[in-house]
Amino acid sequence: MPIVDIHTHIYPPSYVDLLRTRKIVPYIRTFADAPDSSRLIILPGEDDPSTPSTSRGRPIGPEYYDIAQKIAFMDQHKIDKSVISLANPWLDFLPADEAGEAARKINDDVNEICAKWEGRLYAFGTLPLSAKTDTIVSEIHRLKGLKYMRGVILGTSGLGAGLDDPALDPVWSALQETGQLIFLHPHYGLPKEVYGPRANEYGHVLPLALGFPLETTIAVSRMLLSGVWDRFTKLNVLLAHSGGTLPFLAGRLESCVLHDGHMKSAGTRDNRRSVWDVLKTNIYLDAVVYSEVGLKAAVEASGADRLLFGTDHPFFPPLEEDVEEWHSVNANYTAISKAFNDDERAKDVLGNNAVRILRLDE
Ligand code: URA
Ligand code: ZN
Repeated sequence: MPIVDIHTHIYPPSYVDLLRTRKIVPYIRTFADAPDSSRLIILPGEDDPSTPSTSRGRPIGPEYYDIAQKIAFMDQHKIDKSVISLANPWLDFLPADEAGEAARKINDDVNEICAKWEGRLYAFGTLPLSAKTDTIVSEIHRLKGLKYMRGVILGTSGLGAGLDDPALDPVWSALQETGQLIFLHPHYGLPKEVYGPRANEYGHVLPLALGFPLETTIAVSRMLLSGVWDRFTKLNVLLAHSGGTLPFLAGRLESCVLHDGHMKSAGTRDNRRSVWDVLKTNIYLDAVVYSEVGLKAAVEASGADRLLFGTDHPFFPPLEEDVEEWHSVNANYTAISKAFNDDERAKDVLGNNAVRILRLDE
C-alpha cells in the first residue's frame, strides 16, 4: 500500500528568485540584526514594524525550494509519493501582464522536477489569476497536457472578488471539462482586527490555526451559496485542512439557508444542491487536521473514501534542533490510526484514495 502526501508545498528556485527581488509582501530578505538568516514574509501584515525582525515571517532554508530535501523528508516519513504544489500566495500578487508567462514558467519547472523523480512526484499547477480570463483558461488546457500535473492549487481570492464571482464561470468550466481537481488552499486569513491588539504575543497561532480554516470555510460556502455546484455538477474540489470547519458547520449552514427570508423571496434556494450532497459528491478533504476529533467529523461529512493524507511540508517543522521526525506529520498519522483503529479504511486515507482519485498509477 503506497503512502501518498497530497498536501505538500514547494517554492521552485525561479519563484524564490522572484521573492528575493521584492520589497513588499510577499518577499524574502535578511534583516540587519540577523544577516545570515533569510526570512520568508508571505502572510498579510506579517512584516508589521512592531514585530521584531527575528520573528517576522519564518526562516527560509533549502527545505522550501530544494527537491532533494523533499525526497529526504518523504523517505524519512515513509511517504512513497507526493503531489507537490506551489505554496501561498502563488501568483496572486503579480501584475496582469506578467502572470501568464510566470505561470507557464513555474508549471514547466514543477513538471520537470516531477520528471526527475518519476513515480514519486506529481503536482498541482498554478493559475495566473490576475491575467485575462482567456490566459487563465489557456493555462488550464495546457496543464492538462503536462505529464505530472493532476489539477490546480487555488487560493480564495479568485479573480479578486472571491469564489462566488460569476466571472469565474469560464475557469470552473475549463477545470470541469478537463477533469482537473482544484486544491483549495487558504492564504489571506481573517481581517487582522479579529485577532486583537495582543495578536503579536501569539506569533502565527491565530491566523494559522483559525484564520486559515475559516477563510477556506467561507470561500467554499460562497461557492455553494452562489450555485457553483448547481451549474458545474462535476467540478471537484479538495479542501485544505479537512475542509476548514465545513464538516462541523455544514448543518448550521443548511439551517441558515432554510431560515433565510431574503434567499427564499429571491428564489436563490430553488433547486439548489445541499452542502451534504456536495460534500459527498464534489468535495474531497485532506487529513491535515492533527486530531482524530476533526478527522472523524471529516469522515462523517464526506466519507473515508474522500479523505486524503497530507503533511503541509515544509511548514510546521519541529522547533527543537535535535528532533528528526516531524511532530506535525506524526500527529496526522496518529489521528488516522486512532480514527480508524487501523482498519482497511486507514490505508485508503493514507494512499489508496489518492492513487485512485488522482490516477497516480498511470
Ligand atoms: N503557512 C502557510 O503560509 N502556508 C501553509 O501552507 C502552511 C502554513
Ligand atoms: Zn498548505
